[in-house]
Amino acid sequence: MIPQSFIQDLLARVDIVDVIEPHLPLKKGGANYFACCPFHGEKSPSFSVSPSKQFYHCFGCGAHGSAIGFLMEYSGLPFVEAVKELASRAGLQVPQEGGASPRIETPQNDALIDAMSRAAHFYREQLKQAPAAIAYLKRRGVSGEIAARFGIGYAPDDWQGLQKTFPDYDSKPLLDAGLVIENDAGRRYDRFRNRIIFPIQDRRGRIIAFGGRVLDGGEPKYLNSPETPLFEKGRELYGLTQAQKPMRDSGYVLVVEGYMDVVALAQFGIGNAVATLGTATTPHHIHALLRHSQRIVFCFDGDSAGRKAARRGLESALEALRDDVTLAFLFLPEQHDPDSFVRAEGSEAFRQAAASATPLATFLLNELTASCPPDTAEGRARLVHEAKPLVTRIAAPMLRLQVIKAVAGLGGFSQAEVERAFGLDVATPAPAADRGEPEGRPAWRPGNATARPPRGRRKPPSAAATLLRLVLQHPALAARLPVDLVPATNPEGEALVAIVDATSTGDLPPNAGLGALVERFRETAHGQVLARCAGELVEAEFDDDIVETLFEDALRKLHADAIAREIEELTAREREAGLSPIERRRLAALLMEKRNLVNVGKVKDF
Ligand code: UTP
Ligand code: MN
Repeated sequence: MIPQSFIQDLLARVDIVDVIEPHLPLKKGGANYFACCPFHGEKSPSFSVSPSKQFYHCFGCGAHGSAIGFLMEYSGLPFVEAVKELASRAGLQVPQEGGASPRIETPQNDALIDAMSRAAHFYREQLKQAPAAIAYLKRRGVSGEIAARFGIGYAPDDWQGLQKTFPDYDSKPLLDAGLVIENDAGRRYDRFRNRIIFPIQDRRGRIIAFGGRVLDGGEPKYLNSPETPLFEKGRELYGLTQAQKPMRDSGYVLVVEGYMDVVALAQFGIGNAVATLGTATTPHHIHALLRHSQRIVFCFDGDSAGRKAARRGLESALEALRDDVTLAFLFLPEQHDPDSFVRAEGSEAFRQAAASATPLATFLLNELTASCPPDTAEGRARLVHEAKPLVTRIAAPMLRLQVIKAVAGLGGFSQAEVERAFGLDVATPAPAADRGEPEGRPAWRPGNATARPPRGRRKPPSAAATLLRLVLQHPALAARLPVDLVPATNPEGEALVAIVDATSTGDLPPNAGLGALVERFRETAHGQVLARCAGELVEAEFDDDIVETLFEDALRKLHADAIAREIEELTAREREAGLSPIERRRLAALLMEKRNLVNVGKVKDF
């Protein structure tokens, strides 16, 4: 049994887009990504992946699920295997409750975590014996209590300081964790020397990296751990562990730029701050924070660099927006960062500033009117033009609508005119142009002429069902069907096999029309299903120019299904009795073939 908490943790760590992308080339369209659905044959992309919901959904067949669900459905993995696969990508170890199945360990990462925690302990101890470092922190107003809360330490001015706590100074984990650097001669030395050390923790509170600040004016001012198997900069936030309770209590989270900003704010009783690590805010950051709080206030310095950073923050926030959250931008007075501001003005002033921060939509509209003054026809046209890439990426539907209305007002257009200009058609899940689809509604959906969005999960149409409808419309296609691949496991499949048989024995002329075909089978076991399908066909006929494409897609799906059935058989056998080396290779080859089949389809589409 894998504990549910671990599953939650795992899903919090991975991004479904990263999980799906290697299997299925995704195209950006609005807030979501699109591809042709790998679970049913199709030529126009109705498979969507939402980074904000961490969910995929096919508008065509109703398939949906999480990152784990995707691996299960796509790679045919059983649940536990899918979890393991994801965990190993995220560098996590799957814990076992009961311990019935074999553990999958990531001993390398354990060794790195262990090295980081020993190093952190060493740096903390060193701080106690370093009067100059203590004096520096005092000068910056950091109390012993706050230093302890953040585990702040000091790396001594010594090329091999860590040797004191790591007798195995030459071991691999030290290098892999980025604690030491090896020169060309193979000699090692400490990465952090004579620096104040800020440990960076992951969401589970484990130390995964360090930031080190010089005491004097040396360069670089901050030195950070390199990216390691534990540490990926764009995902982590400094101070998240310490900020968790204050975030919940205050109802919001502050995002600042620097280590010292987080520490100084905490010193002033504002504990709900986290820092990005010298990078722009990424959607990963925003997803992580929205799990803790429904209000995010981004803090920026009041200078032009701060405004630029805010603009970048805005762009990565759009796709993570939800209608139940608020994102706001706080611009500090020029020359101030949060650290200096809270010291100069006090915590109450800071809280007030945070409370009256500019909401995201206001900031977006302000930016637009500043860069495109709407006092001329040209300005108004350009405003709408520049708004398009921003507005179409807003993932929160209601907020998007609000902004569209505001843009329409500013530009002197009607809402409908702006929506048309943005390619936002309510009937389609994303701008048609972005999805490589002709304008308007999707080409054809089985039994669904107007492409109503499906309610809940609809059973994907089987390849046989699609083929049957195609053959009913164009009976000549029957001659091209590889009948032994058609599974006669459902009424459509059985009817299809019967039609192909009848065609190959000359029982049915290859150019028989639909009426003739239905007549031929009227009194047989297939009569009913054929009549029903024919009726549906009349309601929603395939567009003639896509018949060939649909047919080929369905054939590919048929082939893929045959492969999938064999994969299923082999995996079942693997579970029960194990596989011989030949079967194992066969399974690997089948999995590869399945993937290729899907990819071939993709390459043609894009
Ligand atoms: P700042 O230069 O604004 O530093 O960089 P700060 O936080 O105000 O630092 P103090 O107050 O001078 O001590 C903001 C953040 O950018 C990253 C660090 O994460 C820093 O906290 N940074 C900055 C680096 O990684 N390297 C650098 O050389 C400078
Ligand atoms: Mn500062």
